[in-house]
Amino acid sequence: MSFLDRIAAAVTPAASDQSRAEARRDIELLALEEPWIAPIVAQHKDIEASFAAARSAPSREGVERLATLLTGHANAEEAVLYPDIADESSKTHAGMAYEEHAMTKIQLAKLKDLPAGSEEWHEKLDHIESAVAQHIYQEEGSWMPDLARDMSPERKARLLQRYNEEYGRYDEGPKTPSDV
Ligand SMILES: [Fe+2]
Ligand SMILES: [Fe+2]
Repeated sequence: MSFLDRIAAAVTPAASDQSRAEARRDIELLALEEPWIAPIVAQHKDIEASFAAARSAPSREGVERLATLLTGHANAEEAVLYPDIADESSKTHAGMAYEEHAMTKIQLAKLKDLPAGSEEWHEKLDHIESAVAQHIYQEEGSWMPDLARDMSPERKARLLQRYNEEYGRYDEGPKTPSDV
C-alpha cells in the first residue's frame, strides 16, 4: 500500500463529500468564536481552489502555485498548530498530522517532475488531492475542534499570533514568476 493509500485508509471509511461539507460548515461556525481557526480554514479553501485551477489548466506554474500554498500552510501548522495539539490535546493526532504532511510533500515533489497534463500527472494530482481532502477533514472535523475544547484562551491567542507570523514568513518569501 502506498503512503497516500495509507493516509486515505487512516480514517475508515474515507469521508464522503457530505461529511466534509458538514465539517466545513461546523468549523466555520466555530471559527466565529475561535479566531485562531479562521486563517487555517481560509487557507484550506485556497488550497482546494488551487487543486481545481491546476487540473483545469495544467501547467508548471499551476503546480508551483499549489505547492507554494500547500508548503506555506503545512510549515505554519507544523511549527505552531501541531505542537499545541501534541501538548494540549492529542499526541496521536499530532503524530498522524506530521506524517501526513511528510507524505504529501514527497508526492508533491514527484508531481513537479511529471509533464503537466499527462495521464500520470493527472493521476498523481488526483491522488494528492484526495489525501489532502481527507487530511483537511481530520483537521476540521476532529483535531481543531478538540483543541478548541482543550486549550486555554491565552494559548489560543498566542497560537493565532504565532501562526500568522509563521505563514507570513513563507508568504512574503520569493515569488514564482506568475506572482511577479
Ligand atoms: Fe495539515
Ligand atoms: Fe491544514
